[in-house]
Amino acid sequence: MAPKLTVDYGALVKDDRVHGSVYLDPRIFEDEIETIFHRGWVYVGHTGEIPEPGDYRLKKIGRAPVIMVRDDRGQVRLLLNRCRHRAATVCQVECGNAKTFRCAYHGWTYRNSGELAAVTYQDGYGAGFRKEELGLTSVPRVGIYRGFVFGSLSPSGIPLEQHLGRATEQLDLFVELSPEGELDVRSGVNKYSYPANWKLQIENAIDGYHPNFVHQSYLEVIQKRTRIKLDTFNGDSVAETRDLGNGHVMLDYRPYNRAKGGAMRTVLPTIPGARQ
Ligand code: FES
Repeated sequence: MAPKLTVDYGALVKDDRVHGSVYLDPRIFEDEIETIFHRGWVYVGHTGEIPEPGDYRLKKIGRAPVIMVRDDRGQVRLLLNRCRHRAATVCQVECGNAKTFRCAYHGWTYRNSGELAAVTYQDGYGAGFRKEELGLTSVPRVGIYRGFVFGSLSPSGIPLEQHLGRATEQLDLFVELSPEGELDVRSGVNKYSYPANWKLQIENAIDGYHPNFVHQSYLEVIQKRTRIKLDTFNGDSVAETRDLGNGHVMLDYRPYNRAKGGAMRTVLPTIPGARQ
C-alpha cells in the first residue's frame, strides 16, 4: 500500500528551485527511505567483489543489513543479515570468505546459501520445528546487469532493466572500456560519511560547476601533465550534467575530453596504481 503523503512536494519542488526543507524534513527522509530504498531497486555491489565461492561482503539496502555472498555453487545471493531466531546479525566482519555464518547470540548456523544448517539444542523446539523453513531471508528481488548487483526489498515492481532505462548505455560504455569487457573490483572500497542529507552527496557528484574552484589543484595537475592550458573561467573544464530518466544522472566529461583531444585519457593512466 502506498504510504500516505503528508508532504506537499509540489509546493517544495519547483522547476528552478527546491525548498531547503527537502534536505531537512524528517518526514521527507522517511518517505525516501520507504519509496526509494525499501521499494525500489538499489545498487548493492559488484560481482567482482566476491569472485570465489564463499566470498562475501556486508552491504545495506536502506536500513536493512545485507550479506552479498557467492555461495558454494557460485550463485550470487543477497541475504538479510538477520538471524531467524531473534534477529541478531549473523555476520559482523565486513568482508571475507565463509562456508557458514554462525549467529553469535545462540549459535544458530547458516550455510552461505542462507540455508539453516544447525540449531543449538534443537530438541527443545519440539517435533514441529521446521529447520528448512528458517533459512536467512533472501532479498525478494535480485538483478545483475553487467556485473552490477541490485536488490529490491519489494517482491513486486518494475524489472531492473526498465528501472535502469537509459542508464544501461552508460554502464555499457563504462564496462566496455575494459579490454576484457568486464570489471574486476577486488581492491576494496573507499568510504566516507558526512553529517548531512544523502541527496547532497549525489548532487555533488553531478555538479560540474564546482570543480574549477574546489578542485583547482586537480585541474592544475591535469594542465601540468597534459601541457594543455585550460581556461577554467571560459568553460574549458566544465562537463555536462545529464538526466538519464528514472532518477539516473551523470556528469559527462566526454565533450570536454573531445575538445581537448582526449586529454583525460592521457592523464588517467599516469595516476599511480591505475591500469595501463
Ligand atoms: S538470535 Fe541468532 S541464534 Fe538466537
